[in-house]
Amino acid sequence: MATKSATWDVIEEVGGRARMETLMRTFYDRLFDDLMIGFFFATSDKEALIASQIAYVHAHIGSRKGSYQGPPIRQAHQKMPILVGHFDRRHQILIDVLEIFEVPGHVREAWLGLDRAMRDLVIRQGDQARQDMGYEVFRPRE
Ligand code: HEM
Repeated sequence: MATKSATWDVIEEVGGRARMETLMRTFYDRLFDDLMIGFFFATSDKEALIASQIAYVHAHIGSRKGSYQGPPIRQAHQKMPILVGHFDRRHQILIDVLEIFEVPGHVREAWLGLDRAMRDLVIRQGDQARQDMGYEVFRPRE
């Protein structure tokens, strides 16, 4: 994740507000319809997520002019048993969508870097993942 603000604005770089909304709608259409991770979004409000995600990205990369009013990322995902494979699947869909929309390289890099930096805030690993999914944690005797 970039540590200091850059001069470019992510919405301008993508081609304006309407194009950003189309990009994000394409992203969420793919996430909602995805065989592997679509179930996470079964009860989600797509329009609210599109708005929230645009604000989040706009507040965190480039000139960071946006203002994100939603919950912190860890808190927003706390109730979901997201495993690393789910994370990777969403990340790949983001890579595909940024490519389809011909997002410039420097923007793509910052955006994907931000996404990867959030990984450990949203995923469950090891014993915590097993417990959250209701499996007994088995510990062999020494
Ligand atoms: C890695 C970076 C990620 C970022 C930056 C991110 C960002 C966000 C944001 C900003 C929200 C909206 C919070 C709100 O306004 O209430 C959200 C909600 C959500 N995220 Fe993520 N997310 C990430 C990863 C994931 C992954 C890997 C999954 C599942 C595979 C996921 C599933 C969801 C779902 C289902 C919601 C909606 C929850 C609801 O309907 O209340 N997210 N995420």
